[in-house]
Amino acid sequence: MTAPLVPATPENIALAARALRAGRLVAFPTETVYGLGADAGNDQAVAAIFKIKGRPEFNPLICHVPDAAAAAVVAEFDDRARALAQAFWPGPLTLVLPKRAGAKISPLVSAGLPTLALRAPAHPVALELLREAQCPLAAPSANRSGRLSPTQASHVAAGLGEFGGGDLAMILDGGPSRLGLESTIVGLAGERAALLRPGGIGRGAIEALIGPLADAPADKIEAPGMMLCHYAPKLPLRLNATRPTSRREALLAFGASGGEGFAKVLNLSPKGELAEAGANLYAYLHALDDPHFEGIAVASIPDVDLGVAINDRLKRAAAAGR
Ligand code: TXA
Ligand code: MG
Repeated sequence: MTAPLVPATPENIALAARALRAGRLVAFPTETVYGLGADAGNDQAVAAIFKIKGRPEFNPLICHVPDAAAAAVVAEFDDRARALAQAFWPGPLTLVLPKRAGAKISPLVSAGLPTLALRAPAHPVALELLREAQCPLAAPSANRSGRLSPTQASHVAAGLGEFGGGDLAMILDGGPSRLGLESTIVGLAGERAALLRPGGIGRGAIEALIGPLADAPADKIEAPGMMLCHYAPKLPLRLNATRPTSRREALLAFGASGGEGFAKVLNLSPKGELAEAGANLYAYLHALDDPHFEGIAVASIPDVDLGVAINDRLKRAAAAGR
């Protein structure tokens, strides 16, 4: 059974909120990527997320809330968390914080960890849905585990449609995601604040508020989104490409690059703008991930600002094919 893909009208948002309260799942737009949401307090609903995604249960989920006040009900905020939430929420920043004792959150959400990842998304549809559902929503990106994240409702339908069964009530279409890259994740539960995943909010902006960030610990997976093979298309990906290795290779270009000899070229940003490239990244990878081609070559992208997050995702996507 395929879940209906419907426009995010007030009526459909109200229906979606009702479905969520009844323990069903809803895919919804955020400014980063589309999420696959469930009532975070409902064990069975959260378990259905792992089932539909084919996601390993040791990989915890982000809990979405409308604002910092709602987040403070379930997690412990210190001064650093308050400063970051005030500066960047709603927005593409996820904070990993100690979970409050007695928080009405299914232990499955944080995979048994004593911490909780929280984010207030900056998308009017997501915020309206959160307010109407009146519960935090556990929501990973709405794709099969390890695959490309969806930045359009049609990506969700193509990737999850056949896996929804009766659990996925609907896919709310709120148009293409404005940012197109998953949120920055900052860990604030350990001894030192750490950058667990680069994203839309740059390291510098965070460090300006709370001081230096440690890098994600290499020895243990604190955010399995940091697992090496992730965010992957089905075709092999080749980075820093200039010339084709075969006539059936497609090119994901950036800036004023030629692309001669490639079977097809999509340019992330002909003007060389990183924000535009980030917004187009997954949609273009989805478009080039076509068995018609032999592989996808990617031009080099400057490793500054948003380019850090773009290159992080590309490296993981390339590692998956090896
Ligand atoms: O932009 C985003 O963050 C999107 C939208 C839907 O909000 N969500 C997203 O979720 O990217 P997901 O599940 O694909 O990635 C969540 C990441 C994973 O890498 C997970 O390991 C990490 O967050 N995470 C969740 N809870 C955690 C925790 N308690 N400690 C450390 N990492 C955690
Ligand atoms: Mg994901």
